[in-house]
Amino acid sequence: MAYPYVSEHEVRILSKYFGDPKQRHLDTYVERGGYSALKKGFDSGSAEVIETVKASGLRGRGGAGFPTGLKWSFMPKDTGKPHYLLCNADESEPGTFKDRELMRWDPHQLIEGCLIGAFAIQAQHVYIYCRGEFFETNQVLARAVEDAYAKGYIGKDILGSGNDIDVTVHQGAGAYICGEETGLMNSLEGRRGQPRVKPPFPAAVGAFGMPSTINNVETLSIIPHIIQNGGAWYRQYGTEKSPGTKLFCVSGHVNKPGNYELPLGFPLMKLIDEVCGGVRDGNALKAVIPGGSSVPIITAEEAGRCNLDYEGCVEVGTMLGCASVIVMDEHADIVKQVRRMVDFYAHESCGQCTPCREGSSWTAQILRRIEDGRGTEGDLDTLMEMTQQMVGTTICVLSDSVAAPVQSSIEKFRDEYLALIRRGERVGAA
Ligand SMILES: Cc1cc2nc3c(=O)[nH]c(=O)nc-3n(C[C@H](O)[C@H](O)[C@H](O)COP(=O)(O)O)c2cc1C
Ligand code: SF4
Repeated sequence: MAYPYVSEHEVRILSKYFGDPKQRHLDTYVERGGYSALKKGFDSGSAEVIETVKASGLRGRGGAGFPTGLKWSFMPKDTGKPHYLLCNADESEPGTFKDRELMRWDPHQLIEGCLIGAFAIQAQHVYIYCRGEFFETNQVLARAVEDAYAKGYIGKDILGSGNDIDVTVHQGAGAYICGEETGLMNSLEGRRGQPRVKPPFPAAVGAFGMPSTINNVETLSIIPHIIQNGGAWYRQYGTEKSPGTKLFCVSGHVNKPGNYELPLGFPLMKLIDEVCGGVRDGNALKAVIPGGSSVPIITAEEAGRCNLDYEGCVEVGTMLGCASVIVMDEHADIVKQVRRMVDFYAHESCGQCTPCREGSSWTAQILRRIEDGRGTEGDLDTLMEMTQQMVGTTICVLSDSVAAPVQSSIEKFRDEYLALIRRGERVGAA
């Protein structure tokens, strides 16, 4: 099957059925072994499920890479209160397009992962908070949930286990900040989608004031495979500290952009050259943003030394984030790209924190001035100083996300800024 592109380097676990519409149907999913991990999880008990996930070394795929088993173990036990599992399906980070595919092609894989996760943390209700613009995905998910209720995989006394778990698909309204975990909780509760000050952390006071855990779609989708095959099986892929496979969303100037499932630690240049068919038109590589627009940009030389795992990205001064690899060739206009990203963040800032609200819009205005050939060299110092004050000073890290591309691009591609400032003309055209 040729989902739009596949590569011999891939290890397709999560994405095995991408491109196969039959997989959406409950009967097909069950025929292919689906929902057997749920039964296995119920039989082994919630403590054992958490231990298996801990042993796998799975790290959250929503961007921060926090160990999933550890996060689940933070949930209080036997509180007598409702507990909630929230599935973060708000996917809005520029460059990211993996969760929508997981939900669209294999909705039951996610639902099974949600049910196992809910069982592990003693949650009676799962909310899948799905980005509003994903019209088709929302429909596919809603249908899958309905079918799973009808066949007894969701609801009361699931599979005769005595466990009651409900699943609700909640459609968001298209705000990037509702992907931040506490912004999502506020939005789910019908409040303004603005992040909350932490502590208290969600495991203590989460959705509706109750103990809650939030996980990304990709994190939860791999859970049935880990429970079915064990932690050691998962660790055969990836590296010691970053085990497993990961969906890489590759966009920009490559011949074959798309989603590729690869073991963590895969070399970035091999991804570009061998998996994605190389840089478009045989052009030279200029820059890569390996983890979505919130992480620092790296040069072609740094890309040559970068292995795609959490540690490998840090070694070259960036982050894996959600593994959304944005590739830019020699014709890319770095200043324009950075300005467009900052425009996005300025628009999506929820406005609670002054450094973020004011800083992002002023940064965008200065970048536009430079782009239009009206900037000064002093603007670069102002940008560096101002964005420095936006790091670590706010309720959530959206503000830090503005600083990352601005600071890294000024440090690494200063000549492009200076060319616009000195000559009032652009470098590159794309
Ligand atoms: C501004 C902002 C936007 C975010 N957007 C998303 C998102 O769309 N999807 C997601 O899974 N995590 C997103 N996150 C991360 C979540 O806050 C949270 O860390 C994640 O859902 C935890 O899941 P994990 O442990 O499975 O990675 C965002 C964080 C920030 C600060
Ligand atoms: S950092 Fe920005 S987006 Fe995050 S809470 Fe503050 S103002 Fe809102």
